[in-house]
Amino acid sequence: MTMTIQDAIEQGTGDAQLRGWIWRERGSNKMKFLVLRDSSNIIQCVCKRDDFSDEQWDAIDKLQVEAAVELEGTLKKDDRAPTGVELTVKKLTIVGASDTFPITKDQSTEFLADNRHLWLRSRKMTAILKIRSTVFGAIHDYFRSNGFYEYQSPIFQSVQCEGGSTLFNVPYFGQEGVFLAQSWQLYAEPAIFSLEKIYTMAPSFRAEKSKTSRHLTEYWHAEMEIAWANFDDVIDVGEGVLKHITKTVLERNKLDLEVLERDISKLEPVTKKQFPRMTYDDALKILKDKCDMDVEWGKDLRTVEEDKLSELYDTPIIVTHYPKKVKAFYMKEAPDNKEVVHGVDFIAPEGYGEIIGGSERESDLESIKERLKEMGEDVKEYEFYLDTRKYGSVPHGGFGMGTERVIAWICGVENIKDTIPFPRTMLRWTP
Ligand code: 4AD
Ligand code: MG
Repeated sequence: MTMTIQDAIEQGTGDAQLRGWIWRERGSNKMKFLVLRDSSNIIQCVCKRDDFSDEQWDAIDKLQVEAAVELEGTLKKDDRAPTGVELTVKKLTIVGASDTFPITKDQSTEFLADNRHLWLRSRKMTAILKIRSTVFGAIHDYFRSNGFYEYQSPIFQSVQCEGGSTLFNVPYFGQEGVFLAQSWQLYAEPAIFSLEKIYTMAPSFRAEKSKTSRHLTEYWHAEMEIAWANFDDVIDVGEGVLKHITKTVLERNKLDLEVLERDISKLEPVTKKQFPRMTYDDALKILKDKCDMDVEWGKDLRTVEEDKLSELYDTPIIVTHYPKKVKAFYMKEAPDNKEVVHGVDFIAPEGYGEIIGGSERESDLESIKERLKEMGEDVKEYEFYLDTRKYGSVPHGGFGMGTERVIAWICGVENIKDTIPFPRTMLRWTP
């Protein structure tokens, strides 16, 4: 029976049968050192010339990096081996030989992106993809165990949600006005009248012309919407899900965080401390007093300002009550100040930017119509959405979380592109 490399390392002694791909190889005419990798870990394996026939040795000698092999042998502890255990190989079967692997050390980001399908095998990508899997699982766990139903909205949509400038138009049987989803929200709000608490994880699309380390044109959006909820209820769910994600990754992905050389003391406070909550006005004051940055009231916070602010805390920061004019048409006006809305952004620590955007939803039908008109939208197109405010409307709200931004922050990787198997940006849609 084959076992995983991680199980073999934990066992440390005795016989073992392993399979995987050759990650590193070096040797002489007496000995061959192979480092084998599988999805669980890596292990050093030694083949001694005397243990194999001439024919077998010839095949072993020709083995290239990335060949797929099955190995049988004996385990022993060895501090010089990269993961502390070594396999002395008694039998080796080549399952799939490998051509010379194009990826070697020190290759350009561009080259790695062109060879993304092969780069997925790297230890770095393997670790990130495992954490990504945990994050997705943790999001499902959190919502499902808190009484949410999973609900899907269409990807082909007929209205904008987050502004026309980042909409992707789709050719649709010669028709105009078909777009890829920027958010599930406008198709989720109608469903709270049946399910009350819902969530989704689905791709969202933004025609972002910005070539930053935070923007993808296709990203996985974790969104939720709840009926009978006020602004604080929405914020509490955001804090809850982020805490749950971080805690779960810390529990399940120790080794992967190690591979990524992630300083986990930067993540631990997130699971324990309450996230600071501040209004946009508070944020401007803090930026002025502590960072010597002047932001004119009414301007959205830019990346530089969010980054400076994030440096002051060791957990995500919750900023509320943004000026109405920088936020989406559906956000509720604050009852005591018509210039600001019950909109919230969660800003990640360490300069990873906005990871959640949400709001309490405007309940006043006329006010929504007014704001749509101001944006130059045809109100008729939104009738299905406006009906949510006509037939038994209730206070409600929700948010969207950029899953890749959360993963980038948790993994401590520089670029969001490394958090998704095949990143799509303005300049990259292949392979
Ligand atoms: O703030 P946004 O635009 O909010 C919405 O779409 C709401 N309709 C969500 C809702 O209330 N249901 O996007 C939500 C989050 C952002 O906070 C950010 O983390 C992420 O989505 N995001 C992106 N992630 C990667 N690449 C992009 N181009 C992104 N644009 C937004
Ligand atoms: Mg936003």
